[in-house]
Amino acid sequence: MTTTKNYDIRDPSLASDGKQRIEWASYEMPVVKLIRERLSREKPFTGVRISACLHITTETANLALALKEGGADVILCASNPLSTQDDAAAALVDYGIPTNAIKGEDEATYYKHISTALDNKPQLTVDDGADLVTTLHTKRKDLIENVIGGTEETTTGVIRLRSLEKEGNLKYPIIAVNDAQTKYLFDNRYGTGQSTIDGITRATNILWAGKRVVVCGYGWCGRGIALRAKGLGSHVVVIEVEPVRALEAAMDGFQVMPLIEAAKEGDIFITAAGDKNVIDEAHLKVMKNRAILANSGHFNVEINIPALESLARNKRRIRTFVDEYALKDGRLLYLLGEGRLINLAAAEGHPASVMDMSFANQALCLEYMTKNKGKLEHKVYPVPEEIDKQVARLKLNAMGIDIDTLTPEQEKYLNSWQEGT
Ligand SMILES: NC(=O)c1ccc[n+]([C@@H]2O[C@H](COP(=O)([O-])OP(=O)(O)OC[C@H]3O[C@@H](n4cnc5c(N)ncnc54)[C@H](O)[C@@H]3O)[C@@H](O)[C@H]2O)c1
Repeated sequence: MTTTKNYDIRDPSLASDGKQRIEWASYEMPVVKLIRERLSREKPFTGVRISACLHITTETANLALALKEGGADVILCASNPLSTQDDAAAALVDYGIPTNAIKGEDEATYYKHISTALDNKPQLTVDDGADLVTTLHTKRKDLIENVIGGTEETTTGVIRLRSLEKEGNLKYPIIAVNDAQTKYLFDNRYGTGQSTIDGITRATNILWAGKRVVVCGYGWCGRGIALRAKGLGSHVVVIEVEPVRALEAAMDGFQVMPLIEAAKEGDIFITAAGDKNVIDEAHLKVMKNRAILANSGHFNVEINIPALESLARNKRRIRTFVDEYALKDGRLLYLLGEGRLINLAAAEGHPASVMDMSFANQALCLEYMTKNKGKLEHKVYPVPEEIDKQVARLKLNAMGIDIDTLTPEQEKYLNSWQEGT
């Protein structure tokens, strides 16, 4: 237990439940386990201060423990006000990792927690959505000179950081962990796909079969959600603004149409576009009575909640994570999880098996940053290809899957231009 109060959690007595669930998650995280064992021997982070703003879950706990065993001085804060698992937070504090996260914290507390994580004067930052890095670049600029580098976990964070870089204002190198193939192809697609359906099911207990499900955004998250909803027997409609992705959705067998038309037909609307007011007032005005709205994108701006509030004459919480809006025209609309990422608000976020790969990338990229201290420019970097490939190999190995290797003849053929018809 830490002596100074550099942590803030709901209830320390939840620690033993949290520890059991962290252990349970670890069984599905064999790659992180292997990395943790090596870090523990080699101690590459000795004396390195890491401030990590992540969803405080049992999977994040496994990453934090790996970094700590690698010698790091780790402090954590939540990357979303509703995504914290209070038992995991309590366990982390008990393991000696100061954690600042309370499920349902208000915005002021959320930023206070980020500030406490920054008080530790990080040399490495780990972010999910770029709120910590943004705070460092605005209100806590004095701390930037200590920072060697950082990593970013999600699409929205990478977009924000690229914009900061483009303005010439990014003050240290950051690796876009989200953009590793072993991250977005699995975490965003299968992780968000499954856990979004899980979150909506836990919040509402609806039957998916026969429902009209409207998925907004056919990126890596959207395609996972669409695929899983289809698998449960829903009729899935995809909304896109990007022509190639819309075409892919159509050829993947989904109906594609403008949202203003789909709004009239949908039973369940799910946003995963990383964009603002994707579901806007005009859409809310034509939705069917008792339509359900959920978001799985990073921020709670994808559904225009202020517009929903202004259309309503009354609001009540009819179930945990389900707010019923009684509109002035008599219709009822249901908003899940206050429009925050529903998979983490109402369920447990991504299954550990995919976080195994995302967090293996995180640990290896942080190690790479430490080893390349001072050598990188103030840019957003891709995950080094050898790290991405290594994570894939380790995961295959852990799953007991062997693959073929190229013969010398094939290697030569694939690297030459001479042989043709
Ligand atoms: N819930 C989670 O646990 C979780 C996990 C990973 C990523 N995310 C977040 O989910 C969001 C999507 O991530 P991604 O990796 O799928 O991104 P992506 O960039 O691959 O896909 C987003 C898609 O949305 C489309 N889009 C943008 N604005 C739109 C609009 N107004 N209407 C319809 N389509 C629109 C884009 O054209 C794009 O195809 C991001 O905010 C990301 O940070 C959430």
